[in-house]
Amino acid sequence: QTIYLSDYTPPAYLVEDVHLTFRLAPTATRVIARINFRPNPEAKSRAFFLHGEGLKLIWATVDGQIVQPGIDEDGLTAEVPDAPFTWEAEVEIDPAGNTRLEGLYLSNGMYCTQCEAEGFRRITYYPDRPDVMAPFTVRIEGEEPVLLSNGNPTDHGPGWAEWTDPWPKPSYLFALVAGDLVAREDSFTTRNEREVALKLWVRPGDEHKTEWAMESLKASMKWDEEVYGREYDLDIFQIVAVSDFNMGAMENKGLNIFNTSAVLASPDTSTDANFARIEGIVAHEYFHNWTGNRITCRDWFQLSLKEGLTVFRDQSFSADLRSAAVQRIEDVMALRGRQFREDNGPLAHQVQPDSFVEINNFYTATIYEKGAEVIRMLHTLVGPDDYRKALDLYFDRHDGEAATIDDWLNVFEDATGRDLGQFKRWYKQAGTPRLSVEEQWEDGTYTLTFTQDTPPTPGQDEKAPLVIPIVTGLLGPNGDEVVPSQVLEMTEKTQSFTFAGLGAKPVPSILRGFSAPVILTREASPEERAFLLANDTDPFNRWEAGRMLAKEVLTAMVTGKEPPLDAYLGALATMLRDDSLEPAFRALALHLPGEDDMAQTLHDAGITPDPARIHDARETLLQEVAEHLQDSLPRLSAEMVIEAPFAPDAEQAGKRALALALLRLTTRLDGGKAAAKVYAEADNMTLSLGALGCLLDAEAGEAALADFEARWAGDALVMDKWFMMQVSHAAPEKAADVAARLAEHPAFNMKNPNRFRSVFGALAMHPAGFHHASGAGYALMADWIIRLDPLNPQIAARMSGAFETIGRYDADRQGMMREALERIAASEGLSRDTGEMVGRILRA
Ligand code: ARG
Ligand code: ZN
Repeated sequence: QTIYLSDYTPPAYLVEDVHLTFRLAPTATRVIARINFRPNPEAKSRAFFLHGEGLKLIWATVDGQIVQPGIDEDGLTAEVPDAPFTWEAEVEIDPAGNTRLEGLYLSNGMYCTQCEAEGFRRITYYPDRPDVMAPFTVRIEGEEPVLLSNGNPTDHGPGWAEWTDPWPKPSYLFALVAGDLVAREDSFTTRNEREVALKLWVRPGDEHKTEWAMESLKASMKWDEEVYGREYDLDIFQIVAVSDFNMGAMENKGLNIFNTSAVLASPDTSTDANFARIEGIVAHEYFHNWTGNRITCRDWFQLSLKEGLTVFRDQSFSADLRSAAVQRIEDVMALRGRQFREDNGPLAHQVQPDSFVEINNFYTATIYEKGAEVIRMLHTLVGPDDYRKALDLYFDRHDGEAATIDDWLNVFEDATGRDLGQFKRWYKQAGTPRLSVEEQWEDGTYTLTFTQDTPPTPGQDEKAPLVIPIVTGLLGPNGDEVVPSQVLEMTEKTQSFTFAGLGAKPVPSILRGFSAPVILTREASPEERAFLLANDTDPFNRWEAGRMLAKEVLTAMVTGKEPPLDAYLGALATMLRDDSLEPAFRALALHLPGEDDMAQTLHDAGITPDPARIHDARETLLQEVAEHLQDSLPRLSAEMVIEAPFAPDAEQAGKRALALALLRLTTRLDGGKAAAKVYAEADNMTLSLGALGCLLDAEAGEAALADFEARWAGDALVMDKWFMMQVSHAAPEKAADVAARLAEHPAFNMKNPNRFRSVFGALAMHPAGFHHASGAGYALMADWIIRLDPLNPQIAARMSGAFETIGRYDADRQGMMREALERIAASEGLSRDTGEMVGRILRA
């Protein structure tokens, strides 16, 4: 059954306060709720309905009188007064049997919760919708040494603890944790001199992996004060690491719960990419305290209100702490890899959808990453000062409320005087706009004429023009900047911008910093791209020029044309030897476009992609690059050696990234000799894993794999890498077999989302393997989605996104993908989650 934005109605009853008592027991936990309700003056109806799923009701009362509610699979209804009243109920739930990892469940012997979006209804009967906000008091009774919930600790005794959260919150922010845990403790003094206790809870033995997240947390708290003027608002802030978790992390008020993979780090066990991701996620969840918790969402159609904004905030934080240029390139790579792929396939949807079946299917790259891009564009259009003014007004006006995306845009209109009527289309129109550009040069005047066009998406055939901020600068023939960056504000379908008084025809640098989430197409010679790669003052566009050139080379190779190889290799070599460029940037510029990116690029150009040919072309080009750079590799590699002790900072990470990019090239020339040495001598996971990948590529990884397994068998997060590497570095024809074999490994556990993803997520992200002409990848994926769905529908649904690129491929592949999808669709008792995803892919 479909839920529509247009059907929104205010809740019939509001909640004054909530008291919960938990009597913990693995298979029979009792939850006793006392909830004070009052009629909502804004509501038309007085129908009393409480959500509840999978609950065993023991008893219920209204104002102390036993009642017999009408119960179905979604919840209950009861006769209640048209006046304030007290609801009390006791239910029984089974945390040990909860494999969905929604609501209250046991992970590794420890109780924990995940309530967003609609998990609280699996804990007790409640109006489980974000526009019902209330203060919570929680009493936990259990024999576990540590008993935690949201807010401040207000009382405890032997075998029980009480927590009080004074800030009204929606139920999706509720959290409870109980187990044998140890804390890293620290504290933070806010700008108003309030002491906040910080505790990061982990299982005994993981203490040494907590320092990085704690440092990241303190940096986040400081940054939010300095950049957004936001201060923390409780006496304590806690994070708990949990090994079975569907997503990355969750911003529960005062008690964030994290997937171990998103919080635990040590040099031995974590890569530089892990450290950076942890820093970003810790910040993201912390930032939610204001953008998400203090101001929450009226309903789930407003999800991007908190997620898009909070992603924009965490990206800005990382850009401030690290290299802004590198951060932007990485964010855009992720956007293109996941969001553009989604936006150009059957699962395309609006940043603010009009309808959904299962909300968990909408925690997507579009809601998160495109949502962040939309806010970045607002920031670009109004400028930093007005942006801050608008945000101040937003916090002022909506603190304590459940707000909407319209409220957000109204704030910007009121603070800046700008009409955002057309801008709102970014929220309501799905699909990636194509932006093409033509140039004209006459009598010292240079004209750029842009045309925008958004292709149809499922259910949305007609697209109107969007407001597109196109940050543009012009370079003179010597590479000097003759017109500095400015924002060209495009509002029409076709629109020209002129630059007068120029001495010579300039080279344009368009869409600097990737100022809008569009696909820019512009004819340019390889020489011009090489010129930009050498001279552009905008680091993003500098990288982009190399990227475009690489894509042109690969496209030519795949389609049997003459590739502009000399221009590319020459430009690459020059760039690589340029010491003024930070190593991290050079590493990114050396990284060839991925196979999935190439498949989409070819599809966009009207060519049916053949994953095998793309794979081969990429291999061939890597070999060419290696041979061309052969003489520079030893010297450059030597320059990237780090003498100082390991630090996970951006500078060292950049050097290691370049060192490994060079090692991948060297491996093509020496068959893995250098990589074996790096593997043997590595004193950190970044180099170990990078070298292992090289050895696997060279088909010389057996010994290292065995060594790695023996060394890390006791560390689940490292073993996830061991599983993943074998799939992602498998030869295309072997990838499905490798995945199938790994799924039989004694350490494989389908109930653990990280482990499942490390095998099947890796297969989905190995295009030549997953799309192998045998169809083995499709069949295996379908088998495992069908097996996982009854246990964990959320992860099964997510995994079915592997098939979202069906529309790109040839008839044979489409036929086999369809067959796999139909097999999933026909499996008995299929969840709403997976049913919706598979249905959307099949129907498009
Ligand atoms: N709000 C969380 C975050 O952005 C994501 C939780 C989503 N969980 C889910 N099961 N849908 O960090
Ligand atoms: Zn979030």
